[in-house]
Amino acid sequence: MTQVDIVSLKDNADPARRLRLPIRDDNGRHVGDLQCIDRSMLDEPGLIDDLTTWRNQSMPFFLSQFNATEERTRRWLETISLPAADRILFVICDPGGDRFGNFGICNIQPGSAEFDNVIRGRGSDIRNLMFQCGIVLLEWMFSGLEVETAELHVFSHNEKAIALYNRLGFAAAERLPLRRAEEEGMVKYSIVDRSEANAGFDYLRMELAIARFRQAHPAALLIA
Ligand SMILES: CC(C)(COP(=O)(O)OP(=O)(O)OC[C@H]1O[C@@H](n2cnc3c(N)ncnc32)[C@H](O)[C@@H]1OP(=O)(O)O)[C@@H](O)C(=O)NCCC(=O)NCCS
Repeated sequence: MTQVDIVSLKDNADPARRLRLPIRDDNGRHVGDLQCIDRSMLDEPGLIDDLTTWRNQSMPFFLSQFNATEERTRRWLETISLPAADRILFVICDPGGDRFGNFGICNIQPGSAEFDNVIRGRGSDIRNLMFQCGIVLLEWMFSGLEVETAELHVFSHNEKAIALYNRLGFAAAERLPLRRAEEEGMVKYSIVDRSEANAGFDYLRMELAIARFRQAHPAALLIA
């Protein structure tokens, strides 16, 4: 299991020491980095605004649906995301520092970890950007965190996301029934027995084992 100290990575207060995972385009050219959201990044102008805007524009694709505000995003980062030992969130940046979206990992545990909070915030000239980010993060999960299986959950009607995950090599492993409820101004979907489901779609669990990833994307190891 991993020797990577996730909490220390996020506790970093020096931008020069921030974890940056290089992103390459289809020709292997360096086109940006997945930058770990750490303490040194919290006060970067526009960061919280971008994360809030992107979450609001992608709200229908997540289990908890609410009105994101900058205050709420900052509180979530400071009290939940940064202190957690089992999750890490990255911002997709080009070499000039422009931000294009976020991509995270959660439920990091012996043997497995999950994609989390995958959002394309804005367009760019970099082709297949989210695919390339997925490859980089999978390589880090398998080689850096030493997990054997990558997982994720996605709404079964989210065709764009499923297309991306299929291209990365993920395959559907399980369909979990969902129930929609409104609570305190929020919409929340929960996993329930099939008899109680009312969402009209399921929560798809997808898996990608290291052997399949190595077979499908042999170049990822070389590039990393
Ligand atoms: C799922 C998702 C990350 C897939 O992104 P993707 O691989 O870029 O695929 P899309 O079909 O969305 O986009 C196709 C093209 O449209 C463009 N595009 C995508 N999102 C864009 C945006 N927000 N603004 C401008 N252009 C965009 C890109 O140029 C992309 O081409 P590329 O692959 O050459 O970069 C993206 O659709 C998204 O953020 N969806 C909402 C959040 C979501 O569903 N997350 C997953 C939850 S499990």
